[in-house]
Amino acid sequence: MKLPLFQNLLLEVENKICLLTINRPDKLNALNNAVLDELSEAADFVETTDEISALIITGAGEKAFVAGADIAELSALNEDSGTDAAEKGQDIFNDIESLSKPVIAVVNGYALGGGTELALASHIRVATQNAVFGLPEVSLGLIPGYGGTQRLPKLIGRGRALELILTGRMVKSEEAGALGIANYVLETKADALAKAKELIGMMTKHAPIALSGAISAVVAAQDYEAEDGFTIEANIFGDLCATDDFKEGTGAFLEKRKPVFTGN
Ligand code: COA
Repeated sequence: MKLPLFQNLLLEVENKICLLTINRPDKLNALNNAVLDELSEAADFVETTDEISALIITGAGEKAFVAGADIAELSALNEDSGTDAAEKGQDIFNDIESLSKPVIAVVNGYALGGGTELALASHIRVATQNAVFGLPEVSLGLIPGYGGTQRLPKLIGRGRALELILTGRMVKSEEAGALGIANYVLETKADALAKAKELIGMMTKHAPIALSGAISAVVAAQDYEAEDGFTIEANIFGDLCATDDFKEGTGAFLEKRKPVFTGN
């Protein structure tokens, strides 16, 4: 099998398991457009390659899974391009969630914003001890735009999801496990990868057609209510991209200072 080559992703296949590593460690694996395009291509490759029966997604290095959407790129968005950007991220993450093969996120280190959203789009999350989840978009004058407002409440309940989305606070691995964001918490990345492979072994001994049927049915149950919600999320994300507070929030991050919000 010929594996596609990417600039920002590493793909390996062993024992029919594809290990996809987001590989932009100098920016803590932040999702810029190039990474998103490659993720989309990689998801298609996994779906259409018979020699692959499951996917593990992780981040390069020990420090971060994915530290979010790329804030430098976000800062240039306006109302229209903001809505488009959210819809693009949603589409790719929906494709990942809808893959007909099991997808496990091995969450090593920071999984913030789009990182938590990518983990939420995966079917199962196995975290390392140093994993940190969070949806800090409000600190940038934004809301989660890659499906986080839709998936987190479904996973952990509306009250707990709203607390995390409105405070933007970071959740360490132990709490993430207690909340049900992480299915398992393991000491090291090697342990977490081993756990993910063990789970995949337990799944792939079963009928592949039953696995894909189960995924479709569970995803359909979620989409039943969420379809409109995704559109609302993308539109609000776009509206916020036209505000002063968004410019201040993203500008402050890039200038490494605290934002001063005015409500405009
Ligand atoms: N987008 C773009 N660049 C990012 C990024 C993001 N989401 N997250 C981190 N980076 C970059 C930093 O700008 C820095 O780049 P530089 O070395 O060129 O200055 C590099 O990655 C290392 O990050 P740094 O902030 O110096 O590391 P830290 O250990 O001090 O802090 C975090 C780690 C994760 C707490 C911090 O990077 C952070 O808050 N990131 C943004 C998280 C976020 O709001 N994500 C949601 C986006 S919607």
